Amino acid sequence: MAFIVEELSARIGASIATDAQTLTSGKHSAEIRGLLEQRGVLVFPGLGLTDEQQIAFARTLGPLEQELYKVSFDKEHNPEYAEYTRGTFSWHIDRIDLDVPPLGSMLTARVLAPSGGETEFANTYAAYEDLPEDRKAYLETLQAVHTIASSYRELPEISEELRAFADKFEPKVQPLVWQHRSGRKSLAIGVHACGIVGMAQDEADGLLAELLEWATRPQYVLRHSWRLGDTVIWDNTGTMHRVRPFDETCGRRLHRTTLLGEEPVAAAA
Ligand SMILES: [Fe+2]
Repeated sequence: MAFIVEELSARIGASIATDAQTLTSGKHSAEIRGLLEQRGVLVFPGLGLTDEQQIAFARTLGPLEQELYKVSFDKEHNPEYAEYTRGTFSWHIDRIDLDVPPLGSMLTARVLAPSGGETEFANTYAAYEDLPEDRKAYLETLQAVHTIASSYRELPEISEELRAFADKFEPKVQPLVWQHRSGRKSLAIGVHACGIVGMAQDEADGLLAELLEWATRPQYVLRHSWRLGDTVIWDNTGTMHRVRPFDETCGRRLHRTTLLGEEPVAAAA
């Protein structure tokens, strides 16, 4: 069966032309894991995976944190977490508040937004690697404070219920530079980063904003415009992601399978 890999830009993304049977067989799972780390995001255009095939494919890549979650503002499909999803409009790493954040996630498009709703990914390995050496050395000494509540800070308003939900999560301190088991390093930043340990708030805000701007420059970003049946996997440990605005009443729905995390956000040695 075909398995054709094409890079989508110099610094992020690859597209893989193949079929469901090839993916669920696990024949290419080691290669896919390698590509995921190297390219950050893998796009499988128009595969049309069923939920069962998606879960089976994900299992060939590693143990799962969650088999299936419906990403939607439609409460019929997402009764518990519809509003929680609003945090995804800003650049983020999923569950950076955990000791071991998820390795990655897989999404399949089920219902498209008529306009908008593209998902963007930014390569935080590449952004780190391009920094000047003295800047890298300084950043490696810092720890960031992350809160779920700050995931919503770029929204004009949120409900009292969502505020209360977000406030239940404890702040989490993580190294600003993530040293991976492979030896590579990435920036652990995003909208959820709301402070730097031991640094005045103004200075920390400035530094975090500067890093976010640096890491989301066009050369590090892949924008995926969804077509029905597309499947996308991203490396949650070496990228950030966000969704572009769309009409929240349009029924847009993506089915997500999440891979269990494998490594803590370790500080540089
Ligand atoms: Fe997310």
